[in-house]
Amino acid sequence: MELQLDNLCHAYNDVTVLDRISLRIASGKIVCIVGPSGCGKSTLLRLVGGLERASSGAVLQMGEPPADSINPLTYIFQDFALLPWRTVGGNVSLVLEDHGIQGERAEAIISDVLKRTKLTDFRKALPKQLSGGMKQRVAIARALAVKPAILLMDEPLSALDSQTRELLIDDLIALWVREQFTAIYVTHNLNEAVRLGHSIVVMSRRPGQVRAIVDIDKPLQQRQLGDADLELKQKELWDLMREEALAADQELIRV
Ligand SMILES: Nc1ncnc2c1ncn2[C@@H]1O[C@H](COP(=O)(O)OP(=O)(O)OP(=O)(O)O)[C@@H](O)[C@H]1O
Ligand SMILES: [Mg+2]
Repeated sequence: MELQLDNLCHAYNDVTVLDRISLRIASGKIVCIVGPSGCGKSTLLRLVGGLERASSGAVLQMGEPPADSINPLTYIFQDFALLPWRTVGGNVSLVLEDHGIQGERAEAIISDVLKRTKLTDFRKALPKQLSGGMKQRVAIARALAVKPAILLMDEPLSALDSQTRELLIDDLIALWVREQFTAIYVTHNLNEAVRLGHSIVVMSRRPGQVRAIVDIDKPLQQRQLGDADLELKQKELWDLMREEALAADQELIRV
C-alpha cells in the first residue's frame, strides 16, 4: 500500500500549522520526517492516521492492504501506552480482542509477534517489570500483531537511552528486512533518520512546509553505526535544519 499526501493544510483555530504538504510514501519504504519543534510533525501523522481531519487537501491510500491485515494503518507512540495491569501477552492480545480475534488465531499471532520482538520469555511479565527498551518492544509487538500495511511512528525511541535506542534501531531494521512495511517515522534524532529512512523529509518551522527531501540509497541492513556516508548525510540534514531550528528556538523564547 502506498500513501499520497496532496496539498495538505491544517490550522488550529486561526493558527496555520501545516502548509501545502505534498508527499508520496511508496510501498515498502520508510520515510522519516524531521523538523523543528512545533512545526507540525505529530499533526501530520494524526491527519494521515485519520485521528484528525485536514483543513484542506487530501490523504490518499493507494492499493489494497494485504488480505490478512487487521488494521491497515497502525500507530506506535513514544510513551508506549501499555496497560499496566495487563501482562506483555495481555497487552498484545488487547488489540486483537478489539478486532474480535480470540482463541487459537489470537494465540498464533501473539506467539509469532513476541518471538519476532524477542519477548517470548517475558510474555507473563507486567510492564512495571520491564526496562524502557522492552516496553517499547511490547508496543512494537502490539503494532505488528494487527499486520499493518503502514506503520505511523511518532518519535518511538525518544524516551530511551542511546544504547537501548541503538538496539531497537537494529530490531526495526531486522523487522523491516523481513516485512518491508511502509512507514512514516517522525524523529528529532538525525542519526535515527539516516539509519532508518529511505528518504528524509526536512520540514520548515511552523507553518510546516516541505523544505527538502534527502534520499539515502544504501540498503538499511548495510547501514552501520559510524558509517562515513551516513555521517555526511546527517551533516547535510543538519545544515538544512540549523537555521530553522535556531529560528524556532528564538520564537519559543519570545512567547
Ligand atoms: N489540538 C491542538 N490544538 C491547538 N493547537 C495544537 C494542537 N495540537 C498541536 N497544536 C499546535 O500545533 C503546532 C504543531 O504541533 P505538533 O505537535 O504537530 O508539532 P511537532 O512538530 O510534532 O512538535 P514536536 O517536535 O515538539 O513534537 C504547535 O504549535 C502546537 O502547539
Ligand atoms: Mg510531535
